[in-house]
Amino acid sequence: MTATAVVGIGELVTCDGEADGAHPGGPGLGLRTDAALVVEDGRVAWIGDSADVPDADHRIDLEGRAVLPGFVDSHSHLVFDGDRAAEFAARMTGERYDGGGIGVSVGATRAASEHRLRELVGRRVAEMRAQGTTTVEIKGGYGLTVDDEARSLRIAGEFTPETTFLGAHVVPPEARGDRAAYVELVTGPMLEACAPHARWADVFCEPNSPHAFTEDESRAVLTASRAAGLELRVHGNQLGPGPGVRLAVELGAASVDHCTFLDEADVSALVDAADTTIATLLPGVEFSTRSPYPDARGLLDAGVSVALATDCNPGTCYSSSMPFVIALAVREMGMTPGEAVWAATRGSAKALRRDDVGRVTVGGPADLTVLEAPSHLHLAYRAGVPIARALVTRSGGWVD
Ligand code: NIG
Ligand code: FE
Repeated sequence: MTATAVVGIGELVTCDGEADGAHPGGPGLGLRTDAALVVEDGRVAWIGDSADVPDADHRIDLEGRAVLPGFVDSHSHLVFDGDRAAEFAARMTGERYDGGGIGVSVGATRAASEHRLRELVGRRVAEMRAQGTTTVEIKGGYGLTVDDEARSLRIAGEFTPETTFLGAHVVPPEARGDRAAYVELVTGPMLEACAPHARWADVFCEPNSPHAFTEDESRAVLTASRAAGLELRVHGNQLGPGPGVRLAVELGAASVDHCTFLDEADVSALVDAADTTIATLLPGVEFSTRSPYPDARGLLDAGVSVALATDCNPGTCYSSSMPFVIALAVREMGMTPGEAVWAATRGSAKALRRDDVGRVTVGGPADLTVLEAPSHLHLAYRAGVPIARALVTRSGGWVD
């Protein structure tokens, strides 16, 4: 057993401090200055003042840099091939996003070899890690046949235990004439083939898109998935007002993601469900689609549990950067830097129902992010500068 002392931590953000009221449903940022910690066998064995650090086999002096829990990216769609940059460019000149472009990625993903898909996912995961993410959730959803969805989830499972069945991403082009038959495929043979490879099931519940799923279709997919042993998450209220949030709360989903267009009833449902259902905000999507940003300030003030994630995908946000998301949350959604860091770590871990990652605690995994900066404030302050990187990752969420 070897121990490494990490000393000279200018600011240690544990996300494991006393409740401070700023983070509904959880403890505060837990800031310590001039701190040190000892990592033993990939776990945090000691946390304290730099001056008191015990002897260890190795010593890393961070010379005043900040250390945070590794970012938890609880929403990504990394298993895809194909390029949709032109769709992004068209949106920048006024085109609206309605989910129709997903079909382009489906075609390219089906045509890709397994080797190529694995390679693409590996590159994207490495890109995330290089920016400080240590736990990631990966969805399927660009195969939309029994075999292609099972293949996507098998590949995702090589990188993370947080895999999500998203056969109900859109109705694929060949099934448009018979939506009911497609929902039967998803809730029958596709679910059966995918459930062994997935922890979660998700659905794009969006009556505002002709490609996505209605409330009834979404309920059918989610209840069948739950009966197959999967836990639930929902894409909801992304393109307009709709039933996604209320359905997620009704079914006890761990998270409802996007939450861009909410009414008062949605917000009060989320407040009542704050211990069960997290509102995961994905501001990279609003950046990339020119939509209005979700009202993070209003949600936090109301007492909703909020998480942040990238939604890294080829359509609405091809960014794998949690620091970028934090900067957007601060600049565009009225979150304080501390709230944004908490939501990107502890909050996002809650959205995955994980208590081990997203915080720095004795006995927990040493999944840490170090900043080339003295405090967490620099994540938004130095937007666009690559100051975050994973420091010591045991594998809280990674399958190494
Ligand atoms: O989360 N909204 C549905 N799914 C993705 C976008 C997928 C795509 O356009 O390729 C999202 O935004
Ligand atoms: Fe998504």
